[in-house]
Amino acid sequence: MGANLEITKKLQNYINDFGLKLHPVQQEIIDYNNTLGDIKRMQVDPSQCHFLYLIIKISNIKNVLEIGTFTGLSALSILLALPDNGKLIALDKNEETNKVALNFFKKAKQDHKIKTIIKPALESLNELKNTKFDMVFIDADKMNYKEYYERSLKLINKNGLIIIDNVLWHGEVADEDNLDKYTVNIREFNKYVSNDKRVEQIIVPLGDGMTICRVL
Ligand SMILES: C[S@@+](CC[C@H](N)C(=O)[O-])C[C@H]1O[C@@H](n2cnc3c(N)ncnc32)[C@H](O)[C@@H]1O
Repeated sequence: MGANLEITKKLQNYINDFGLKLHPVQQEIIDYNNTLGDIKRMQVDPSQCHFLYLIIKISNIKNVLEIGTFTGLSALSILLALPDNGKLIALDKNEETNKVALNFFKKAKQDHKIKTIIKPALESLNELKNTKFDMVFIDADKMNYKEYYERSLKLINKNGLIIIDNVLWHGEVADEDNLDKYTVNIREFNKYVSNDKRVEQIIVPLGDGMTICRVL
């Protein structure tokens, strides 16, 4: 049992050292994000990149939706796993980071598999209401998580996966005395998903914590 296992930075680095190796363009994105200062914390952890990659390969996933792309690290991890006829639709409202991400996708020769839509995600999701996906990765504004989750359920194929990032919120969700509105929001979201009979789910403590839901 790993009951007392604390995932320190040192241990996370150890885990990453023994995981898959990053693609050179994934490393370039990380290096670029490191020049951005504090905002770099937006990106997923390398262990999450490898997890997304492997789960797509294992599950034979072809059509993916991402909500929250930033400079493209998670999206590129998804693209590298998708077959040549696979498709990723990536939503973000930020035009500037989208341009940066598109350059990285081109550099990795993965741009033929991606379509990005730059506008508030709820608007994009309205437009996608007739499209079906095998997997949705949710990693945008946290206060809209419940809405993104509900919309994703409408767009996902049976047996599809909905993966949600940041569900452990730096560990603060487990501290019941923490009543900060963002912490409470994630805590309530986690409760909502755990009571949802439409999915089978598990929280995996990678990065800032991800919930993996299989849609029944
Ligand atoms: C945590 S970052 C995504 C990180 C990305 N998955 C990665 O691995 O680098 C969140 C992103 O969500 C975007 N975002 C925030 N609110 C949004 C909204 N209402 N609609 C669309 N995108 C939004 C931000 O512009 C930001 O790029």
